[in-house]
Amino acid sequence: MIVTTEQQLDALKACGKAVQMAIKTMGEALEAGMTAHELDDLGRKVLEREGAQSAPQLVYDFPGATCISIEPVIAHGWADEQTMKAGDMVNIDVSACKDGYFADAGATFILPPILPAKEAIVKAAKRARDKAIAAVKSGAKMQVIPKAFEVEAEASGYTLIENLLGCHGVGQTLHDKPEILAITDKTDRRTFKEGMVLAIEPFLSTGADYAQEGMREWELFTPGHLTAQFEHTIVVSKKGPIIIT
Ligand code: CO
Ligand code: CO
Repeated sequence: MIVTTEQQLDALKACGKAVQMAIKTMGEALEAGMTAHELDDLGRKVLEREGAQSAPQLVYDFPGATCISIEPVIAHGWADEQTMKAGDMVNIDVSACKDGYFADAGATFILPPILPAKEAIVKAAKRARDKAIAAVKSGAKMQVIPKAFEVEAEASGYTLIENLLGCHGVGQTLHDKPEILAITDKTDRRTFKEGMVLAIEPFLSTGADYAQEGMREWELFTPGHLTAQFEHTIVVSKKGPIIIT
C-alpha cells in the first residue's frame, strides 16, 4: 500500500508495535525443552493483548499464530510439540493485522551454547537487512535492496536464497506488490514511491541457493546448510525509511 495520511501511518505503527512486542516476548522466552506450541501461545497472547490478529492465520489459514522455524526448518515452521534443543537456531517470524493494517517482521535467535558459525550467519543476515533498509528512500531504485543483500552476502561468504522474495509490499494485506527478488535483476527499473509500505527480508545461507519443501506442509529447508533471516516492515519517505516493526 501507499500511505497518504498520518492516520494510516499511526495505524501501521500500532500494528508494527504489536508484531515487534510479540517477537521480543518470544525471543526472551526461548529455552531448551520448550515446545514450539508453547512459544506460539506466547506470541498469540501478545497479539491478542495488542488488539491484533495473526496475519498468516487470517490470510492463509496457517496452522500457527506465528511462524516458528526450529533448525533445520528455515521458514514457515508451525507450532507443534517439537522441542527446541540447546544450540538450535530458531527463526521467529510474526505478522499481524490490527484495525485492517498489516505488518510483518522476523528475527533469528540461537539458544545457548552459541556456536561461532551460527552467530556469524545470524549477524550477517541482520546486517544485510539493515543495510538494505538504509538504502531505501523515495526515488531510489528498488534494486538497491538485492544489491545490498549481495554485497553483504559476498563480504561475509554466504549465499542468498533465490526462491524467496527479498522484499514484498505489505500494509493493506500481508503480501502485496511490489515484489523484489533477493538477487539483482538488471531489467528492473522500478523506483520507490513515497509512502510505500515494504517488508524487507533477506535469507542468508552457508551455501544453499534455494529453499525446498519437506514432509510437512508449509515448512522450508536448506538441507546441509544453515540459513538465517531477518525482516522489518518499513514505510518509504523522502528522508529515508521509517521502520515500523
Ligand atoms: Co515475515
Ligand atoms: Co514477509
